[in-house]
Amino acid sequence: MPSFHQVKSFVHHWLYEVDDHSIHSPFFFDLYSKTVRVKRSPLPKIESLRQSLLKNETALAVEDLGSGKAVTKKTLGSIAETSLSPADFSLFYLDLLHYCNAHRVVELGTSLGVNTLYLAQKKDARIFTFEGSHAIANVALTNFEWAEQKNIELIEGNIDSTLPRFLESTAKVDFAFIDANHRQAPTLRYFHQLTRRVTEKSVIVIDDIHRSEEMEKAWLEIRQDTLVYGSVDLFRCGLLFFDPNITKQHFVWSLK
Ligand SMILES: C[S@@+](CC[C@H](N)C(=O)[O-])C[C@H]1O[C@@H](n2cnc3c(N)ncnc32)[C@H](O)[C@@H]1O
Repeated sequence: MPSFHQVKSFVHHWLYEVDDHSIHSPFFFDLYSKTVRVKRSPLPKIESLRQSLLKNETALAVEDLGSGKAVTKKTLGSIAETSLSPADFSLFYLDLLHYCNAHRVVELGTSLGVNTLYLAQKKDARIFTFEGSHAIANVALTNFEWAEQKNIELIEGNIDSTLPRFLESTAKVDFAFIDANHRQAPTLRYFHQLTRRVTEKSVIVIDDIHRSEEMEKAWLEIRQDTLVYGSVDLFRCGLLFFDPNITKQHFVWSLK
């Protein structure tokens, strides 16, 4: 059941949502027409994997990455049902990769790797995906092998330590999807760490920006950051742009 905060955010989103008639910025008009207002069809091979995961009753011991202990047993089916990006958003992220011609892509929070497989459809991109649960990471690796996807590298461990290490050896990040620890402090920390490697053309996506009051605070602070030159609220996620040539603007849109 949605929380009071989520209902309030949903109503707010609905009230402030605009469409192409209200977008006067050439950059955002182009982005809207080429990525948001597009009809997409889910990829059958990846969706068949999602369906088989949804039916899978195998139980995994999943660590609580806050405390570092293996605390809960979850079935693969319940993880697939509650943790994965839906196909329309995974397809949208893939379109964004093409739109910004991303070559180095970071996904914080792999889960079972279904969204990762969508991102990896941009064949000339390398996808670095981060997962802290050993059991979940193993399932994702099996899925990548099954799909024979060679442009994915899974980095296992707590992002608090794996991301800074990864960024030390990385010159730039073209696209990042922050979808792991949905708390205010880690979201802000991962965002600031990633901004040290973004270029003017990079895009950062933050998942679940209206999930809780603390995610809302993180999103508000991030979209007002001096490095951010434009942002879009798609309710499920927020998009951030870093090109100083864009007039600083914030939009509220819905995925069509
Ligand atoms: C919402 S799921 C990711 C979903 C996936 N990105 C998608 O779009 O389908 C979040 C994942 O992040 C992992 N995670 C959460 N906190 C983490 C941390 N601090 N370090 C590494 N992984 C973490 C969880 O184990 C979980 O599998």
